[in-house]
Amino acid sequence: MTINIDKKIKDAINKDKKFMLTTTRSDYPFVPKTGKGDFVEDISGNKFIDFSTFISVYNMGVNANYEIREAIKKQTDVLIHGAFTDFYGENPVNFAEDLLKMMPKGFGRVFFSNSGTESNEAALKFSKIFTKRQYTLSFYSAFHGRTMGSLGLTASRSSQKTHFGPFNSNIHVPYAYCYRCPFGKEYPSCGLACVDYTKKNVLKKEVPGKEVSAIFMEPIQGEGGYIVPPKEFVKEIRKLADENGIVLVADEVQSGYMRTGKFLALDNFDVTADIYTMAKSIAGGVPMGVTITKNSLGDIPAGSHANTFGGNLLAVAAAEASLKHLNKNISSIRNNIKEGSKLILKRLNEMKEKYEIVGDVRGIGLMIGVELVKDKKSKEPAVKERDEIIENCFYNGLILLPAGDSVIRIIPPLTVKHSTLEKGLDIIEEQIRKISK
Ligand SMILES: Cc1ncc(COP(=O)(O)O)c(C=O)c1O
Repeated sequence: MTINIDKKIKDAINKDKKFMLTTTRSDYPFVPKTGKGDFVEDISGNKFIDFSTFISVYNMGVNANYEIREAIKKQTDVLIHGAFTDFYGENPVNFAEDLLKMMPKGFGRVFFSNSGTESNEAALKFSKIFTKRQYTLSFYSAFHGRTMGSLGLTASRSSQKTHFGPFNSNIHVPYAYCYRCPFGKEYPSCGLACVDYTKKNVLKKEVPGKEVSAIFMEPIQGEGGYIVPPKEFVKEIRKLADENGIVLVADEVQSGYMRTGKFLALDNFDVTADIYTMAKSIAGGVPMGVTITKNSLGDIPAGSHANTFGGNLLAVAAAEASLKHLNKNISSIRNNIKEGSKLILKRLNEMKEKYEIVGDVRGIGLMIGVELVKDKKSKEPAVKERDEIIENCFYNGLILLPAGDSVIRIIPPLTVKHSTLEKGLDIIEEQIRKISK
C-alpha cells in the first residue's frame, strides 16, 4: 500500500494548525473521511487497516455498523434532544435497564453524561456524597480524563497537568506495573510491595482510610501503557477498600464494553467494583458517558449533579442498537476476541524472541500493548523508535496509537477479521525488523 500525502491533506492539516487549539494530534498526517469494519479511508482515498478503533471507540467496526447507523438516522426524524435531566424520557430509561442487565448483581442506578472524563467526575462527586469523605486514591500512570476533577486523579504524564494545579484532595499510589516495578522487585516474590506501600505509608502517615471516599482504578491501565496488573493486586485493592469502607470505582472507559472478552474488564480479576464508569465505545461513536452505581450506595440528593446532554436521544439510540447487536452476536464476538487475541499474542511473542527492541508483550482480549526498549537488559524506553515505527506503519497503511512512554497499543475492532490482523501484524513486524537493523 502506498500512502500519498497530497495537497488536499496538507491543506487540511495547515488549516487545522491555523484555527484549532487542540494539542494532542498524532505525528502522522491522518485525515479520515470514511470507513467500514476493519478499514478506514482518508480524504484523498488512501486506505488503511485500523488497529486504533479511533481510540477505543469503534468496538463494532469503523463507523459502527449498519444497525447502529440506522438507529441514529431513525431517531433524528423523531426527536434529537429530550432534555433528559429536566424532563422524563422512555428510551434513556429503557437503555439504562438493558445496560444494568450486563452488570453484576446489585447494580441498579445509571447516570448519563457525554464523555469518559464526565463519567469519572460524576463518580468522584457521588462517592463523596455516599461516604461524606473528602479524599480519594488513584494510581500512578492512571488516566481518568482531563477536566479538573478527573485530571486530579490522572497521573500518566506531567505535561497533562502543568499549570493546572492545585488539584482535588487525591493521593497517587503505586500500581502493579510489574515490568517496571517501582520497588525494583519481581512478582510474586515482591509480596505485592506496592499495596504494602499504600497501607504502611499512605494510609498510616498521610491520610486515614476512614477519610478516603474512593479508590479509582483502571482494571488495565490504558493511556499509561497498557499495563495489566496481577489478579492478586486487584483483589488486594478490593480488600483494602472493604477494610476501610472505601468505594471502589472501576474506570472501564477504555477497558470495558467487551474489549477484553468480558463486558467489564474487572471481571477478568474476579473482583466487583462499587461504581463503574464507561464511555468511548458505548454509543458506537456518538458521545456518551455512563456512571453505574450499586443500589446499596443509595441515591444522590436532588440538584447535586446534572448536565444538559446526558441521555441525549441520538446517543441513547446508538447505544441501544449497539448493545442489542452485541447481545445478538455475543458468542461469535466473544470467540473472535479470544481467537484474535491468541493470534496477536503469538505473533508479538515471536517478535519478542526475535528482536531486542521488543521488551514486553501484555494484554487481555483485544487490549494489547507492546513495550519497546533500547535493550532487554537495561529496559530503557525506546521512545523515538516507538514513534518512528508507528509513523512508518502509517505510511504502510496501518493506523496505530501509542501509550505510556514506549508502548504501541493494538486495539482493533472486536469484529476484526483474522486475515486483517495478519496483514497488520506483518506491517508492524516489517517496521520492527527495519529499526532493529
Ligand atoms: C481509562 C480512561 N478514562 C477516562 C478517559 C477520558 O475519556 P474522555 O476522553 O472521553 O473524556 C479515557 C480516555 O482515553 C480513558 O482511557
